[in-house]
Amino acid sequence: MVLTAILATGCTERPAAPVAYREPFRLQYHFSPEKNWMNDPNGLVYHDGEYHLFYQHNPYGDRWGHMSWGHAVSPDLMHWEHLPVALEEEDGIMIFSGSAVVDTRNTSGFGTADQPPMVAIYTGHTDTLQTQHIAYSVDRGRTWTKYAGNPVIDLGLKDFRDPKVFWHDESGQWIMVVSVPAEHNVHFYGSPDLKEWTFLSAFGPEGASDSIWECPDLFPLPIEGRDGATRWVLIVNIGSNAAAGGSGGQYFVGSFDGKTFTNDNPPEQVLWVDHGADFYAGVTWGDIPESDGRRILIGWFNNWQYAQDIPTSPWRSAQSVPRALALRETPQGLRLVQHPVREVESLRETPQTFAGLDFAAADALGLKGNQFELNAEIALNGADRVEIAVLARGAEQTVVGYDASEGVVFIDRTASGIGDFHDAFLARHTAPLAAPDGIVRLRLLVDWSSVELFAGDGLVALSDRVFPDPESQSIRFSHAGGSPVLTSLAIWPLKSTWGRPSL
Ligand code: FRU
Repeated sequence: MVLTAILATGCTERPAAPVAYREPFRLQYHFSPEKNWMNDPNGLVYHDGEYHLFYQHNPYGDRWGHMSWGHAVSPDLMHWEHLPVALEEEDGIMIFSGSAVVDTRNTSGFGTADQPPMVAIYTGHTDTLQTQHIAYSVDRGRTWTKYAGNPVIDLGLKDFRDPKVFWHDESGQWIMVVSVPAEHNVHFYGSPDLKEWTFLSAFGPEGASDSIWECPDLFPLPIEGRDGATRWVLIVNIGSNAAAGGSGGQYFVGSFDGKTFTNDNPPEQVLWVDHGADFYAGVTWGDIPESDGRRILIGWFNNWQYAQDIPTSPWRSAQSVPRALALRETPQGLRLVQHPVREVESLRETPQTFAGLDFAAADALGLKGNQFELNAEIALNGADRVEIAVLARGAEQTVVGYDASEGVVFIDRTASGIGDFHDAFLARHTAPLAAPDGIVRLRLLVDWSSVELFAGDGLVALSDRVFPDPESQSIRFSHAGGSPVLTSLAIWPLKSTWGRPSL
């Protein structure tokens, strides 16, 4: 069916593509493993011209189990090369989530000054105990040795996981932030050599804390337009009751002095990283060169509510598009801003651009696509609601829009296609957003079975998976009330990074 859809477009050029990347629902410019199960992104580190993406992986099946670190590298965050599994379950110890660093000063002694080791810090999991472990590589992450002195932190806890480690220049030590899920807090540890760790402090429960805390990250982030000014961001993912139900990520803004994180905001305030249903365990790359200076986040494009039942085969799960982060000063305080990394723009094919279109005229264009970027600036002109339906045909559609009476942007996937695998799947997800001067800006990334919406110049993100018929390709425009105008509209087909031509 998918093949028919491609041939019908008359594309003659068909670059050699792994057959694996042509199955129904396969994302074309997002990362997914060739086969089997994947969850959290792990060990995100940049080294020697390569972005490393390790990930929670079951090498033996398409559901969770036998957790190991899968591995891929990319020069540009878009085109990924699969590498062999980096860290495998061994002696009954699974390899849970964690991070990786380049130990440039060779503090660990695992490498040499000339050949600094890459060190992975992960949770070793058994049914009764979770402890922190390290492993190292001196060949650019291709082969790994588990440290003989593991574990490096053992509190005797059943739940204690997901270490994120970075070098903190000001205090001259490695810092680890790691979660104690059931206590809804994170611990900070310090180390001179990645082997000996000293407890520094704990943070939490604060914010959303009625379910388990997992996969923390901590980093300084520049404030837009305030040259050199930064504030610290602490990301904490929660297992359920997140913005769109099920699992999701929250963040705190504050200060970190090498020992303690202090929240700038009242403890009960909750700030969501993403308001869609499918963005979990979001963590950022370490060691991106200062000359680049970006802080880049990627999240697991799924939700624990239904993760193991989504209808894909022979693989299950994808990662979100990587996003460059910043903080923005708003009347409510500092807020996280996310933009798809600029490398996405290198996938753009010839755009269709329009200006000053009313919604009926836009609808009459009969636009189509399964893998594209759409940027729209909309003057509401009194509209109660404006809607752009994508991946649509007949009654099937995923609707993205702005509801002026509610003051929200939304993705409505109630009629998006297959959704019977979980009661909560076919739903509408919203995020509050003001429309100053009656203007709404939407940036949309669509990739066969996914929709990522960035609104308010990155102030709000919503990420949702959908499972439409591959023939559902129409882009439709509609509104309720007023006379809204698309002051600008641009649509770029995006190239496949796995070799499939776009429509
Ligand atoms: C989050 C998580 C982590 C854990 C991993 C196990 O999705 O539960 O806390 O390390 O998945 O696969």
